[in-house]
Amino acid sequence: VNSTMDIAFDLGLKNTPEGTLFLAEAQTKGRGRLGRTWSSPKYKGIYMSLILKPKIPPYQASLLTLVSAVAVAEAIENLTGLSVQIKWPNDILINQKKLGGILTELNAEMDQIHFAVIGIGINVNNDKKNLIAGATSLREQKKERINRVELLKEILFRLEENYLLWKDKGSSAIIKKWHLYDITLGKRIKIFLHKGTLEGQALDIDLDGSLLVRDDTGLIHKITAGDVVHCR
Ligand code: BTN
Repeated sequence: VNSTMDIAFDLGLKNTPEGTLFLAEAQTKGRGRLGRTWSSPKYKGIYMSLILKPKIPPYQASLLTLVSAVAVAEAIENLTGLSVQIKWPNDILINQKKLGGILTELNAEMDQIHFAVIGIGINVNNDKKNLIAGATSLREQKKERINRVELLKEILFRLEENYLLWKDKGSSAIIKKWHLYDITLGKRIKIFLHKGTLEGQALDIDLDGSLLVRDDTGLIHKITAGDVVHCR
């Protein structure tokens, strides 16, 4: 397929129920945030898109990315014993290198999401020579092949668990777990926004999933994932 995002989105438009998953063995036009490409070699990674229909306004959609990132981090840690970090808003890292990412796309009105597509890409059995600079794979980190089906099962289990936890207990329960993996908060960061840049200290994640940043004049900014081009 070109990208599981497009297929899932088309399914979403045809009123496909929540929980529908589209999984590919390879993608020819895998994409990351903001039109970046996502390298998706055959049989090496996990490339999936999931349709969800949460009853939230679009400005809270970052929470879907947080829920998914927590689920992926838990699944990987549980299966491999490796320690995983999450970089706000959507990067899954191991040893400061990018292992995977989450892309959340919406079909929405101003005040209501019709459906969301959660795209998850993970480098699983990629060899070092097939990874771009700054990227890693589970195989490279663990020094052994990883069973993708086992990992997929674990991710789906954790996704459902955390999605239900979020619905049941609200975003604070997810943010609390997210803190366990976070490498953004407390740091001095530079955020490249669609309009200019912002430097300051990352303070916390707000209940709607946005990042609170204090600039050098003491002013606090609320940054939603949609505002961000790049964060370091
Ligand atoms: C990012 O880090 O920028 C997000 C990467 C998301 C990649 C996944 S792979 C499955 C799904 N299909 C795509 O084309 N992208 C997402």
